[in-house]
Amino acid sequence: MNAVLVQLAYLAATALFVLSLHWMNTPKTARRGVFSGVAAMTIAVLATWSGANVTRHWWVLIPILIAVAPGIWLSLVPLTAVPQRTALSHAFGGLAAGLVGTAKYFYWLNHETEALTAFRMTAIILEIILGYLTFTGSLIAAGKLQEVKWIPQRPWVYKGQNYVNLGAFALAVLFGVLVILSPGTTTSAVLFVLIIVLSLNFGWMLVMPIGGADMPTVIAILNSYAGLSAVAMGFVLDNKLLITAGALDGSSGLILSIIMCRAMNRSFANVLFGAFGQVAKKAAAGEQKQYKSENAEGAAQMLEQATRVVIVPGYGMAVAQAQHKVRELYDLLSKRGINVTFAIHPVAGRMPGHMNVLLAEADIPYERLQEMEDANSELPQTDVALVIGANDVTNPAARHDKTSPIYGMPIIDVDKARTVMVIKRSMNPGFAGIDNELYYMPNTLMLFGDAKAFVGEMVKNLSGAGH
Ligand code: TAP
Repeated sequence: MNAVLVQLAYLAATALFVLSLHWMNTPKTARRGVFSGVAAMTIAVLATWSGANVTRHWWVLIPILIAVAPGIWLSLVPLTAVPQRTALSHAFGGLAAGLVGTAKYFYWLNHETEALTAFRMTAIILEIILGYLTFTGSLIAAGKLQEVKWIPQRPWVYKGQNYVNLGAFALAVLFGVLVILSPGTTTSAVLFVLIIVLSLNFGWMLVMPIGGADMPTVIAILNSYAGLSAVAMGFVLDNKLLITAGALDGSSGLILSIIMCRAMNRSFANVLFGAFGQVAKKAAAGEQKQYKSENAEGAAQMLEQATRVVIVPGYGMAVAQAQHKVRELYDLLSKRGINVTFAIHPVAGRMPGHMNVLLAEADIPYERLQEMEDANSELPQTDVALVIGANDVTNPAARHDKTSPIYGMPIIDVDKARTVMVIKRSMNPGFAGIDNELYYMPNTLMLFGDAKAFVGEMVKNLSGAGH
């Protein structure tokens, strides 16, 4: 393909990438967004390949074919495993950028030393630092989310850790500057390898002190690192599409992490260096507090007598795949003239939009979904707040307990409803690892069981089969 056509194809691919992000804004057009992203990537690969010498580079097909199998396998993971799957994609993206930067440096060092300009070297150094740290950082993030045994969920901390981490990073940057200043020497080649080792180490050391509950935010931050690494790679390879696609990737990751930090009322620094979730299970060892529980029949009767019900879904609904049963419950209550809405916390579940996707899958009308602020203004006039597998996002400690790790996180004020019913399997804590004082309040009823089974039982009762 001639050079002009390649550039036109790049332009089309860039437009499709932008549209793809735009369409992913709402579940209605998200599917279109996915297709346009795939189309953009296909155009990008084909145009780049045809711009090079296709017959000489036929072997590129081999790694592509090898990569397809694990790619398909990764795409088939359940929705609850999507965060760790995403982390793995970032790990591979970071590794690819790091390897390309390394290959380019050593190629130019051995064959074309004059190509090692200060500009290119700066881009290569940025590319490998960001690429390799994203690789190991994302692997640890994926491991924490997957709850791999040998990676601690809790923050792994020791005294002076932040200094050690920042020291490793500063050393990598210092070596980078030295390499940029004189890239063509044997010493520089050694320093280059040391930068790789330091970056690989910095990546996992950066993520280990961060608790599992913060992993989705960390993944979004690593996403932006991988994007920036791709931008640097675009400058190294002189490929404009890589620069624009990397910038889109980097900025969307950054925006996502800002949204999540805001929803949790936390700063970037607090997420990265705050060792959140360290105060693990402190409360669980305390005195035995009293709580009340109810069975499905009693819970169904409470719902039947209500005029207004707010359902608050959380991670447990996703684990149980209870969304279709929840839809049946919604239908039965609505038919009785009961006003049912769904209150969606921005960080309920394990990824942004997690609850919206599940409820959309069950065809729950989109206009019945309420954002946290709207739901909170109506909760004091609500008869029953039904919490389905949500925990941290309903914990009133976030409002007043300054010692709580979730202090300051906006929550859904279910405790202000006349009655709160909470479906979960046990009194175990949620992702932040802390007890929930909501469960011991006088207006709270615990409904113990798997969310799908319990909602199913309530549905049976309401549809007459249980009476
Ligand atoms: P969590 O606080 O993690 O609580 C989920 C609850 O679901 C658990 O307490 C668990 O209790 C229950 N559960 C699990 N499986 C269940 C099943 N099969 N049936 C019924 N219940 C089940 O969830 P949340 O309230 O949605 O909060 C999300 C957490 O993730 C927050 O800490 C948030 O900060 C963090 N986070 C999320 C994001 C995004 S983007 N979503 C980003 C960063 C951080 P049992 O074990 O007793 O059943």
